[in-house]
Amino acid sequence: MRLIGVIVLALVALTWADGPLPFETEDVEILNAEAGDNNYRLPEDLDPISYDIEITPYFTEETTPPGKSQFSFDGTVSIVFKVIKPNLNSFVIHENVRLVEGVRLFKTENDAVVPLLSGRQFERDTDHQFLKIYLDTGTTLEVGAEYKLLVIYVGNINETPLSRGVFRGNYKDENGVTRWYLATHLQPTHSRQAFPSFDEPGFKSTFRITINRPTSFSPTYSNMPLEVSLNQGERTKEIFRETPRMSAYLVTFHVSDGFKVIADNDDKERPYRILARSNAEGQGKYALEIGTPITNWLSDYLKIDYYSMAKYLKNDQIASPYWASGATENWGLVTYRELRLLYEEGETNAVDKLSIGTITAHELAHKWFGNLITCRWWDNVWINEGFASYFEYFAMHAAYPELELDDQFNIMYVQSALSADSATSTRALQHTVNSPTEVTGHFSGISYSKGASFLLMLKHLVSDDTFQQALYNFLDDRKYQHAFPSHLYDAFEKALSESKQEIKTTEGNNLDIKSFMSYWVLEQGYPVLNVSVNREAGTIALEQERFFVSPTATATQQVWPLPITYTTQSSPNWTDLSPVKVMNTKTDTLQNVPTDGWVIFNVQQKNIYRVNYDTETWLKIAQQLQTDHNVIHHLNRAQIVDDVFALMRSEKLSFQVGFQVLQFLEKDTSFYSWYPAISGFNWLRNRFLHTEPLALFDQYVFRLLDNVIKDLGFEVEPNEHVTRTLNRFYLLNFACNMGHQECINNSVNRFKSYKSGVTTSVNPNLRRHTFCEGLRAGDFEDWSFIFKRRQESNNQADEVAMLRALGCTKNDQARNEYLKNILTDDVKAQDRLNAFTFFYMGDQSNAKFALPFIKENVKEIEKAVVLPAWFQNIFANIAGYLDEEGLKEYETMLTSTQTEYPTAFTAGNNAIASARANIKWGSDKVEQIISVVDDLTSTTTPAPSSSEEPTTETPAPGSATVAFPATLMFLWTALAIILK
Ligand SMILES: *[C@@H]1O[C@H](CO)[C@@H](O)[C@H](O)[C@H]1NC(C)=O
Ligand SMILES: *[C@@H]1O[C@H](CO)[C@@H](O)[C@H](O)[C@H]1NC(C)=O
Ligand SMILES: *[C@@H]1O[C@H](CO)[C@@H](O)[C@H](O)[C@H]1NC(C)=O
Ligand SMILES: [Zn+2]
Repeated sequence: MRLIGVIVLALVALTWADGPLPFETEDVEILNAEAGDNNYRLPEDLDPISYDIEITPYFTEETTPPGKSQFSFDGTVSIVFKVIKPNLNSFVIHENVRLVEGVRLFKTENDAVVPLLSGRQFERDTDHQFLKIYLDTGTTLEVGAEYKLLVIYVGNINETPLSRGVFRGNYKDENGVTRWYLATHLQPTHSRQAFPSFDEPGFKSTFRITINRPTSFSPTYSNMPLEVSLNQGERTKEIFRETPRMSAYLVTFHVSDGFKVIADNDDKERPYRILARSNAEGQGKYALEIGTPITNWLSDYLKIDYYSMAKYLKNDQIASPYWASGATENWGLVTYRELRLLYEEGETNAVDKLSIGTITAHELAHKWFGNLITCRWWDNVWINEGFASYFEYFAMHAAYPELELDDQFNIMYVQSALSADSATSTRALQHTVNSPTEVTGHFSGISYSKGASFLLMLKHLVSDDTFQQALYNFLDDRKYQHAFPSHLYDAFEKALSESKQEIKTTEGNNLDIKSFMSYWVLEQGYPVLNVSVNREAGTIALEQERFFVSPTATATQQVWPLPITYTTQSSPNWTDLSPVKVMNTKTDTLQNVPTDGWVIFNVQQKNIYRVNYDTETWLKIAQQLQTDHNVIHHLNRAQIVDDVFALMRSEKLSFQVGFQVLQFLEKDTSFYSWYPAISGFNWLRNRFLHTEPLALFDQYVFRLLDNVIKDLGFEVEPNEHVTRTLNRFYLLNFACNMGHQECINNSVNRFKSYKSGVTTSVNPNLRRHTFCEGLRAGDFEDWSFIFKRRQESNNQADEVAMLRALGCTKNDQARNEYLKNILTDDVKAQDRLNAFTFFYMGDQSNAKFALPFIKENVKEIEKAVVLPAWFQNIFANIAGYLDEEGLKEYETMLTSTQTEYPTAFTAGNNAIASARANIKWGSDKVEQIISVVDDLTSTTTPAPSSSEEPTTETPAPGSATVAFPATLMFLWTALAIILK
């Protein structure tokens, strides 16, 4: 799955980079309370072989016969399984449906009925979502024999996708008629809502799906192609071909009145299709164009062809207007939130377009990592998500190298992993989880970003060829089965030993790849490498320690095996990425290094660690960056910017030295340098908002921005590199938000010409800041103009962009309308949490404005955001946008809701405490930082204008754009991604 957003406490989701995202959070306290309870897991007593599932859904009144309830479905499942454990007189499977009407058990060999305990044939344990079946007294299951369990039940068609399972949605067609559909989102623990099942990733079987749809509806889609369709009057019975052997969470079906194929490669052997609502025609072209090259590249690279994985296997991608995450990898029918799949030229911006490509690559990669091979249990979900996230960038990169996604991976994933993993509360890649809540919580930034970064590090350690061979070993060994990390380690050990490569450790031994891998998988966090150059002796002393962003965290005894790469001023080489050794000790010394100039460790930041240098070396680096930053590779400049901010926060690097190093930003125009810089400056600035010297800090940042804004300009140039478009997108948004006058003037003027009809369109890559500034400066009529425009939009990415812009208003009437609108159907449940955040980010005065509204509408908000975790997020998020006066008002308000909404009270108060800590941090540090940056500006010579310096090697996407609340900044970076 691809996550969507960020996270507050333990989070999940991410849609990445673009914005504040939807949070799918799990409450840490709940997690702790459940720790150690294993009762949610099924015993390995039985081995499922095949399922037959038949579903009859009821939608509108017309399609719901008497005696049935609307938005429910009748279900029948029969599961054939083999018995592993002797003497079983009862057994258990998962189930979380509305009603279980009856169960029957047969022995498959002769179809004989197996008698069940009379009066107590089955029992439902709703707390643990178990269905327990009791055999008659004295009867046991025969080991090795096959049985068939039949369950007749009724299921729910949930109101929103946030409840997962089977849910409904609708859309208005070109004639304004409401059309219904039903979709499924069964990952990770929701198959049990659709059918009683062995609902754990490690249990694999085949599935045959049958749907009795209303005949007036369109043909149904499922994992496999339709085999038979029988018209039976009001209903049509559709029987689909059998799936490959797979986990139950990968099952899907999509029943609709009006979805259809909107793009098709018309290749019978290697089909690829885009499906969507009927009036999205034309928006599937881009998704179709990229699908085949990515599928083919993965098939070649992994040496298992996608279409060979099962007979009749298709490769459909369907856009669902309502979807809880970014996308989900159902085999044969991947479902995407609509804006992650549909592209409309002239309406969808470059950030969203790029995410269509990367999310497609992510979902397609899951076919090998996730579907063909699946983690045994969700404690190792990184095996699914780490690989998918790695190929999200590297498979898309292989198909479209000009997008530079290999480089963008550093700022989007490596750096977000470093951020997320520097908290004391971080968890290891392999992390024990049991309950559904814990499972969902582990679909978090670490499993995605650190999992993917770990694979990149590993690839550079063993070489691409060996890496590729190891993946093949792994897939070939475990296909159609589940896998433990040890299977992956074995695959690497085999490939490495066959390659005859030797990787040396500090002690001169050959590296044991299994212990290298397991250390990174089992340990929380990662280290900072201290580099201290002895110029007389020509040696470099290295020392590692766990990196915590908090200056007060307690040191640990951990010692990571660290691939050491470096380059030097006297013989720079930015392309040699193979480690000179693996440092598996706390300290080490490098001899005979040319130490007269600078040295840079972790070349191109392919490895998971930060680097801190002795002061003299930092100053040499700073000097090089100021004289000619291009001498240092753009990915190392990105690394330096990101590391410097983190090291300053953790008090391992002084502001004097840190800001001195950052001074090169006044000349550098690279996207890769600016993306982490925007995050870093936002983090600081959000802590200074209440302070007097804010204006001085802003002036300092404006001076650094001067050159890059001149270079990028306010217009999108035809055929410019995508990283330039992205850089402008994030930078102008950042600048305008800070109050950069030229940026604001340009935006307001552009907005006015657009509104008055002088220009007919605004480039989608300029809309975020243009519309936001236009509405911030505008009146109710301006706001209504965009409101109406949003309602007329037929592209979801554009609709969400407009929603964000609407949150920028400062007009009271518009603000009231905006808030009220969030709770109506006009804003989908999946967007409501973001809609609140857009509002707080939209203008500094907005969070306080929202307080009375939240107070008066707590009940409605609780219902509208569906998930308890999202409800808590509403209360946590706002605090980061309030000043002290606002916080006081908020505190009072929370007290009045304490009794009725204790979880909101706790979430709100925790957030208030951290907002106050941020404000205090700002008050404590601001003078010092201002004096440092003042000195810098007065001593460094102004850079020559670099407007004619081509920015060929730059660019990249960013994430932290709008003033992000201080409290969330770090979580947000951590996450970046959002659900896939
Ligand atoms: C950098 O190192 C690589 C690998 O050792 C070598 O092939 C390449 O020629 C070197 N490049 C430079 C500029 O020295
Ligand atoms: C690394 O350097 C920082 C900053 O000088 C220092 O605080 C820290 O103790 C050093 N750690 C190790 C393990 O050398
Ligand atoms: C922005 O516009 C205002 C009002 O039109 C004008 O006074 C100001 O000089 C402009 N500033 C810049 C930097 O363009
Ligand atoms: Zn995924």
